[in-house]
Amino acid sequence: MLITNIGELVTNAPRDAVSVASPGPFEAIADAAIVLDGGLVAWAGPAAQAPPADELVDAAGRAVLPGFVDSHAHLVFAGERGAEFAARMAGLPYSAGGIRSTVEATRAASDDVLRANLARLAAEMLAQGTTTFECKSGYGLTVADEARSVALAAEVTSEVTYLGAHVVAPEFDGDVAGYVDLVCGDMLAACAPAARWVDVFCERGAFGADEARAVLLAGETAGLQARVHANQLGLGPGVQVAVEAEAASADHCTFLSDADVDALASSGGTVATLLPGVEFATRQPYPDARRLLAAGVTIAIASDCNPGSCFTSSMALCVALAVREMRMTTAEAVWAATAGGAHALRRSDVGHLGVGARADLVMLEAPSHSYLAYRPGVPLVAGVWKSGELVG
Ligand code: NIG
Ligand code: FE
Repeated sequence: MLITNIGELVTNAPRDAVSVASPGPFEAIADAAIVLDGGLVAWAGPAAQAPPADELVDAAGRAVLPGFVDSHAHLVFAGERGAEFAARMAGLPYSAGGIRSTVEATRAASDDVLRANLARLAAEMLAQGTTTFECKSGYGLTVADEARSVALAAEVTSEVTYLGAHVVAPEFDGDVAGYVDLVCGDMLAACAPAARWVDVFCERGAFGADEARAVLLAGETAGLQARVHANQLGLGPGVQVAVEAEAASADHCTFLSDADVDALASSGGTVATLLPGVEFATRQPYPDARRLLAAGVTIAIASDCNPGSCFTSSMALCVALAVREMRMTTAEAVWAATAGGAHALRRSDVGHLGVGARADLVMLEAPSHSYLAYRPGVPLVAGVWKSGELVG
């Protein structure tokens, strides 16, 4: 299938590459075309040079981008916290404590309720151009409830993260060590088969550096790769722990010391995943993206979609916030929401439209990627293809 007459095709792939193994720097082609075959990108380049194809789609000057890669989301939950949000907007601060109210609602929900919530959010993401997303457990916090959370997540994505170490379960009040033993023992054993990643909320009010290290080490021993909730609510050891553990990503990075920035810059593989929807919804200061970029740190942008700190699934909103509030260029922000997310998930097949990449595309009702920030809040998605199939 050939999509032609594309006003701007964002490829994140070198122009002359016959095939690319993984996303490259931001790259866009004007007046472009793309050929999809067998669920993969078969060709991309100037429309005037496009090869013939069986099926033709006329983009009529619209922009086409790689589908968004949302590398951080908490979608397995029940209940909602609209009143907590309203109270926050009326002046109360955000704290990790709200997580426990979602834990209570999640435990009380049937599998079918959780599955229906998950399906609704996954459909919402796809309709907004997100073709790959990560999904965490972390609102169960018992062996059975975490195991069903990762199992349900695995029904909708291959990027499943075990987050038993979200907060200390209420049954273990005053016994953090006892809960960490459970997270590293029976709970991990029950969750590891359905998960790819292990995550820990390393923050005051959740887990300290030694506890986080123990969780990541146990996870790695069980075959999971590390990612860390780090430095969201204040300065702390999260980023250092993530880099030490060679985590794929340190997420949030809202409060960073110079040593944290240096650690990320010299890590060789730990992406800084920024979640500007959280700062929007908690009235925290935005992370300093320019400082990270100046240091050479790889940045991903993700939604953190969850019922507490940020209940948006819109990667377009996150791009707009990154541009307006974090002073990223439109190209940097779109790259971070596509290729950056792929790096944060150690995926080479998504986040770009080089030959051989998965044919995951979003077409905008707009001539260029910059409209995602230029027209914030406007539904701009005109079409979504996943593995070459039109799905939205
Ligand atoms: O990424 N920081 C920890 N977890 C979520 C918030 C979860 C919640 O408030 O329910 C986050 O912001
Ligand atoms: Fe999160």
